[in-house]
Amino acid sequence: MSPGDTVLEAVGLTKHFPVRGGLLRARRHLHAVDDVNVVLRRGHVTAMVGESGSGKSTVARLLAQLHPRTSGEIRLHGEPVSVRSGRSFRAYCRRVQMVFQDPFASLNPVHTIRYHLTRALRIHGRMGKDDTALEELLARVQLSPASRYLDKFPHELSGGQRQRVAIARALAADPEALLADEPVSMLDVSIRLGVLNLLRDLKDRLDLAILYITHDIASARYFADEVLVMYAGQVVEGGDSETVTQNAAHPYTRLLIASAPDPDRIAGKAAREEEVKGEPPSLIDPPPGCRFHPRCPLAMPRCRTQAPPRLPVGDQDGHWAACWLYAAEGAG
Ligand SMILES: Nc1ncnc2c1ncn2[C@@H]1O[C@H](COP(=O)(O)OP(=O)(O)OP(=O)(O)O)[C@@H](O)[C@H]1O
Ligand SMILES: [Mg+2]
Repeated sequence: MSPGDTVLEAVGLTKHFPVRGGLLRARRHLHAVDDVNVVLRRGHVTAMVGESGSGKSTVARLLAQLHPRTSGEIRLHGEPVSVRSGRSFRAYCRRVQMVFQDPFASLNPVHTIRYHLTRALRIHGRMGKDDTALEELLARVQLSPASRYLDKFPHELSGGQRQRVAIARALAADPEALLADEPVSMLDVSIRLGVLNLLRDLKDRLDLAILYITHDIASARYFADEVLVMYAGQVVEGGDSETVTQNAAHPYTRLLIASAPDPDRIAGKAAREEEVKGEPPSLIDPPPGCRFHPRCPLAMPRCRTQAPPRLPVGDQDGHWAACWLYAAEGAG
């Protein structure tokens, strides 16, 4: 395999959660993720950005096979995979690992770092007879000497060190893909960059395929090769990270960028006027047509009734937006 090869891919990924209640106890569904395509490539970071509730974590959990999907396909090296038993789930976890937002919640407070990492190495048959594998793991996440950390409990470490341990535990499986769900958003701003740089270094050295989920489109530009923008359960724009962040095409992406905190801009009235106005739509009864139309400053009549397909944007290969603004004149 060479860098850039597809490791993990989702096609038409869809998750509808059943919801209780409603008139006559009708069976209703929350459309958390609808028809999402994602490709994770070896040695590449794909960022998924979007506001709270847009379905980012659900996509990661579906890719990790933690939820059954409503429809769509997940392919590992081109082979469709469905995890049906504990054994097939373990085999899948060996290749696809997840890192969560809150390292405090993902590490057990009553166990030491040694316990967490030993257990992860044993599950994947990589422990060996002495501490060598443990020391290597901690060195990979730049926690050395290992002796300083191995017998500590999670609460004795800083937030950044805890997240490094959580990353080390994910690496114990020697995975090919890492699904990182807001891995730095709970950390102090001053140490976020260090953890992102560590992930970037691991991506290069281990040729990992990384999904990086974030609210922060600026960090996606810094860290990712490709950006996917999610809105109300759907991906509305995609392309290489420089193009999507510098020449955003979808009105939602533009507003997301305009309302992102920018240290170079003095937060004033002008900045705030560009914020995404209004509430995210109901996912139980999503708006017809384009789901963004009720909040879109550029909505046209057809946006209210017809869902836009992915349309190519500009002359940058692979840049697309699901927006009628990019339909050829007179088409449709
Ligand atoms: N297990 C579940 N059962 C029912 N609804 C769920 C479940 N998990 C998520 N949802 C709903 O699916 C939608 C998408 O949630 P998700 O957690 O994927 O969003 P997100 O983009 O990760 O948000 P955030 O940025 O706040 O983490 C939300 O409306 C959420 O309430
Ligand atoms: Mg989330």
